[in-house]
Amino acid sequence: MGICRKFGQSAVSVAAAASLAAGDPGAECILDNLPSAVLLLDSQDRIRRVNAAAEQLFSASRNQLEGLPLARLLLADSPLLAALAGVRADGQSRSAFGLRLGLARNGGFEVDCHLVPLAEAPGSVLVMLHPCSLAARIDRDLARGGGRKAAALAALLAHEVKNPLAGIRGAAQLLEPQLAEEDRPLARLIREESDRICRLVEEMEIFADAPPLRRRRVNIHEVLDHVRRLAEAGVARHCRFVEAYDPSLPEIEADREQLTQVFLNLVTNAAEAMDTGTITLATLYQHGLRVTVPYRRERLELPITVEVRDTGPGVPPELADHLFEPFVSGKPRGRGLGLAIVARIVADHGGLVSHVPSERGAIFRVRLPLAPPIAGEQP
Ligand SMILES: Nc1ncnc2c1ncn2[C@@H]1O[C@H](COP(=O)(O)OP(=O)(O)OP(=O)(O)O)[C@@H](O)[C@H]1O
Ligand SMILES: [Mg+2]
Repeated sequence: MGICRKFGQSAVSVAAAASLAAGDPGAECILDNLPSAVLLLDSQDRIRRVNAAAEQLFSASRNQLEGLPLARLLLADSPLLAALAGVRADGQSRSAFGLRLGLARNGGFEVDCHLVPLAEAPGSVLVMLHPCSLAARIDRDLARGGGRKAAALAALLAHEVKNPLAGIRGAAQLLEPQLAEEDRPLARLIREESDRICRLVEEMEIFADAPPLRRRRVNIHEVLDHVRRLAEAGVARHCRFVEAYDPSLPEIEADREQLTQVFLNLVTNAAEAMDTGTITLATLYQHGLRVTVPYRRERLELPITVEVRDTGPGVPPELADHLFEPFVSGKPRGRGLGLAIVARIVADHGGLVSHVPSERGAIFRVRLPLAPPIAGEQP
């Protein structure tokens, strides 16, 4: 449970909320561009209005949310409900930081929240939720800047390291027969360590090697079927597959091979996390869905959602904030490149990949546009 304190009503939130309550389209536009989820509750704690970030946070559309009691979205012991009860009891605003939002659907994560009773609309309470860690993660997961910079750095490093390394290795090899018997292990050590660094650098090159997108019309379900067949014949032999496909999913313009790589990496991780279990491949088409990305000005139109879910132990909590960075691995022999490659390819397609916190197993969500941005264009 986070720190909870009462605070003075802010003029901005009151004005925005009062306009929202009145159905002012200007206020709605402002609210839809806010990175924080905003919900307006009526005197019965039913949701009257939501903004775009709230739709995203609760993975539900405006139509589904409006009219619903807030309690239906949350676990009975969610601290948000306790904070709301406090507001109802004394009519005072409250802020809570680092509060664990118990979501009925998928557990939840930590948020900062502000609850403001509205004098302009008696009985109404404005709820603002800011999933700080998730926001930071999504920003990083976009990986447009970070992933590409890391890839460029990896390419540079690989280039700069490999040539001198070959020289060092060659020199050690030449020296070895000329050395006294007792010194030869040292020359061998130089050779073997050079080989090890060389292998490491080659792995970095795999990450850095970013071929241009070869766009064509792609049926995502065909890609997923192909990935399932590949996995069933190999890495996921011990797993059961479930397909939960949205039949209305349109074809998209994408690079089929690279998308195959994305879902193969996700399915491989799912299979490697379980001795036995189920991998669900789910798709969803949300026409016109525009995703507000915290700390970014543009809203991305990403109507295609693909999720890879598994019933394994879930992502180790200590890795959760760094999953998409290269060389982060929780496996003894893991290279930590699979998800970094996923992030790079999805970003090249103008999409977004995230790890969805979940009570059970792991969920990775890929959101894609209908067509990737042209290289050099701002997505
Ligand atoms: N479905 C999952 N369930 C549990 N942990 C996962 C899952 N997916 C990823 N992880 C964790 O994230 C780490 C990083 O994954 P990533 O695919 O980037 O690297 P890796 O699997 O360790 O190595 P590589 O994919 O390069 O062979 C994994 O080592 C694992 O600890
Ligand atoms: Mg992997």
